[in-house]
Amino acid sequence: MGNSNSRTTSADALVVFGVTGDLAYKMIFPALYAMARRGVLKVPVVGVAAPKWSAAQLRKRATDSIRQAGRIDDRDALKHLLSLLQYVGGDYNDPGTFIALKQTLGDARRPAHYLAIPPALFATVIKGLGTSGLADQARVIVEKPFGRDLASARALNRVALSVFPEDSIFRIDHYLGKEAIMNILYFRFANSFLEPIWNRDHVASIQITLAEDFGVKGRGSFYESAGCLRDVIQNHLFQVVALLAMEPPAYQGYGAVHSEKAKVFQAMRPLHPGDVVRGQYSGYRKEPGVAKGSDVETFCALRLFIDSWRWQGVPWYLRSGKCLAATAAEVVVELKPPPQRLFDDSAPVNGRANYLRFRLSPDSAVALAARVKRAGKEFVGDQRELYLSEEQPGEETPYERLLSDAMAGNGGLFTREDAVEAAWSAVDPVLNNHHAAYRYKPGSWGPKQADALIAADGGWHNPVVLKVKQ
Ligand code: BG6
Repeated sequence: MGNSNSRTTSADALVVFGVTGDLAYKMIFPALYAMARRGVLKVPVVGVAAPKWSAAQLRKRATDSIRQAGRIDDRDALKHLLSLLQYVGGDYNDPGTFIALKQTLGDARRPAHYLAIPPALFATVIKGLGTSGLADQARVIVEKPFGRDLASARALNRVALSVFPEDSIFRIDHYLGKEAIMNILYFRFANSFLEPIWNRDHVASIQITLAEDFGVKGRGSFYESAGCLRDVIQNHLFQVVALLAMEPPAYQGYGAVHSEKAKVFQAMRPLHPGDVVRGQYSGYRKEPGVAKGSDVETFCALRLFIDSWRWQGVPWYLRSGKCLAATAAEVVVELKPPPQRLFDDSAPVNGRANYLRFRLSPDSAVALAARVKRAGKEFVGDQRELYLSEEQPGEETPYERLLSDAMAGNGGLFTREDAVEAAWSAVDPVLNNHHAAYRYKPGSWGPKQADALIAADGGWHNPVVLKVKQ
């Protein structure tokens, strides 16, 4: 895929706003270290945050973070990364902070500004960059969540576009940097056998599960302002839907992919409260930062329709939750049964029809389930999977991939303004208009009402996680 829609000159500095925060600690330093190891990080990295730290404190924080991620196996790379780090402390509301940043950037003319900060501060920093002249020739990388509903996403897009052109705005959805998810696009359009069956005539339903067997992990106050639908469904799972549902791009280039994905969101039928099941795990209200009477959902299942020529009438079921029975993400595309039951054990009488399964995490694979005859006189068989494992050593992590792409000016794996807004349009009607969350037991597959939602289409496929004996 080419990158026809983006500026292709590389950034000559990386600025990380919020460098003392959690995201930088957990994701960004390890990604920068991995880039240094591969020899692709060659520009100054300037951290900005409120505390009055020294550059030495920042270097220590970076080293701790990389050690915590368990990956100091190349001392020279670490030394190189630390030699690139500089620090500017100051309030984002203070123009002096941006003046100090400008001085620190010195000769750099095309910085990439990464906003690893709470969403409430996005607009302040973007405006600060604009008025201080730090936006000229620059790029801005914005972390999710991009808005918390349609109105706020539009407002944020307006602010960002008043300072940066669209092709200099890189909206991160780290799911797009995952190999297994990039493979959906490749697998669909690099093969010819799929296209004839990839439509309402042959597909009965599609379901996507993103399950996590842990809770909010100390992020209670963030979660209180988000909930499952905003945290992972409107963005991560919707991106997966778009890649599965889009029409073939008309030409080679990411611009065509962006346009086709945006059309999927535009064709999504706005959700109706009856299509959504919300759940909350018992014990959530005792998490630090969570309100005693909180109704925020830690589980969400929904039924979605895409009103397009290809997908009319095909239900899409999405679900995600914290404290579920496993940690895994999967797509199951269920095909229609054969038109005539020639064998007694044919689907749907005997279990499910054929399906295609994309395993997205913790491992990545593609499986095609088909019935095969058992040896013997009878014409009976079993559904078995042709299984393609794609695990490859040395894969880039999503943050490594996305940071390098943004710095290189390659916008292919980022989300475009129209797509983000159309995705919010689909969920907007149920953000506030919904039933109270049903309680579910940690370690279960969520509230039973979620099973009822999909009962007519054969129920959920619960991803299997093989426990490796230590
Ligand atoms: C994040 C959410 O965007 O994605 C988290 O805020 C969630 O709540 C995470 O756990 C899932 O991503 P991954 O890559 O860990 O599967």
